Formats: sequence, structure tokens, C-alpha cells
Amino acid sequence: MSKPSLKQLISTGEKIAMLTCYDASFAKLSAAAGVDILLVGDSLGMVLQGAEDTLNVTMQDMLYHTRCVAAGAPDTLIMTDMPFGSYEHSPELALANAQQLVAVGADIIKIEGGGEMVNTASYLAKNGISVCSHLGFTPQSVKQLGGYKIQGKTPDSARQILQDAVAMSTAGADMLLLEMVPATLAKQVTESVNIPTIGIGAGSDCSGQVLVLQDLLGIYNGSARKNPADYKAPRFAKNFLVETNSVQQAVIDYVQAVKNKSFPAVEHSY
Ligand code: KIV
Repeated sequence: MSKPSLKQLISTGEKIAMLTCYDASFAKLSAAAGVDILLVGDSLGMVLQGAEDTLNVTMQDMLYHTRCVAAGAPDTLIMTDMPFGSYEHSPELALANAQQLVAVGADIIKIEGGGEMVNTASYLAKNGISVCSHLGFTPQSVKQLGGYKIQGKTPDSARQILQDAVAMSTAGADMLLLEMVPATLAKQVTESVNIPTIGIGAGSDCSGQVLVLQDLLGIYNGSARKNPADYKAPRFAKNFLVETNSVQQAVIDYVQAVKNKSFPAVEHSY
């Protein structure tokens, strides 16, 4: 088996099952379970490093974990987050850092934000980098957004997200990731662009879904310093391990649930 291209994956017409992954063992297990794209997310700041947010994750961290995931799943598409501070300053800096991530195994790189990031996405795409644009709730802006809050609830903010999505698609992005936006807005975005949309807390009408591995396994209960009793899992998280005794089966069940459209259900959406 060889690695499919993003185009080949899209051409199947199936919902795309994406899952975060940070190491070779889970990469191998997830690839065998049928995960289409492994996301080396900067959520590793929370789930691996015990931090409050993603803001202290470095390029070195992302290079290391991308290398690990690529070693475990050589035939699966890998998307890697560009960490905070590695791309916002200039398109040239973004390209230099994206090229390093590609060199260790990333097939697609993900950047957060619309607006001023459209130029950067265009520059990356023109230089041969496959780009995913992360819109809606963007974790690297958690402080500016005032916490983990649903985005696009007002007509103005919904219009802005839709506008950013179309601009990113026109600029050459290959994929959009929509986090914590109303399902109706995610549907509208999906129908307005000709690239796939991946949702997390964005309803069931996106072209695919992503979950954080630790949420799928029900093992994340807040940052290292916090009392687990104070942690409330986000609405979009579903523990797939609770119904089976097998980690492998939990990942298979997630993939099947995305493909047969039973996940996300209404209770996982806004
Ligand atoms: O870093 C990450 O895991 C992500 C997901 C929340 C989509 O960006």
C-alpha cells in the first residue's frame, strides 16, 4: 500500500476521518483502524505536556512528533500544526518552517486564522505546500477570544468566518478545519467552497471530522495542575472506549461512526 494523495482521498466521496496522533505506536494503530489523516496537533501542549493551552508548543516539538508519527504510519496522510509564533510574522518565515515540517513527514500543514493569514496561505500554496486553514475557534488565540467559546454565533461573526473560508479556498488552501461553530454555519461554509471541510464541534455536514485521541479514549481531564473534578469535557468530545474494551476497536468505531454519519450526533454539535 502506498500513501494516497489528498485528491485521491477526496475522490472516494466518503466522509474523511481525521484523528490527532503524536507518536509511532498510535500512528500504527490508527492507520490500521482506517484513519484517513493523522493530525499532529499542537493540542499536544495540553494532552502530552500538561499545559493550559497550545501557546508554548515549539517548532522542535512539532518536528519531533511529526517524525514519530511518520515513522509509525508511512502510508497515511499526515497533517501538522504550525505552532504559535512559527508563521504569523511573515509568509517567508511560514514557508521556511513549513518546509522543515514537510521534510520530517508532514503532507499538509495547518495554520490558524483567516484575515491576514490569507496571504500566508497563498504564499505557502504557491511554493508547493499543502495548507489547511483552521477557522472558527482557533486555540492559539484562546486569550483574545476570552476562553473556549463557540464562534460565529452573531450574523457579523458568521459572515466573517464564511468570508475567510472563501478567501482561503481562493488563495489555494486545500482544506478547511472548522472548530466550535454552529452546525448551520459549517454547512453553509461547506457548500460555499470547493475544498473539503473538517469539523470539530461543527455539526455533521462537514466533509469529515477530527477528534483529539485522548478525548476519543476518554482519558483527558484537564491540564496537569487542575483538579479532574473541575473538568468538563467539550460538547463535541465522545468517549468511544466506554463501549468497548479495546483501544484499537474504539478507534475503528470512531472511523466507522464518521463514515456512516452517526458521529457527530446533534448532542455533539452547536
Ligand atoms: O491541535 C489540535 O489537536 C487541533 C484540533 C483541536 C483540531 O487543532
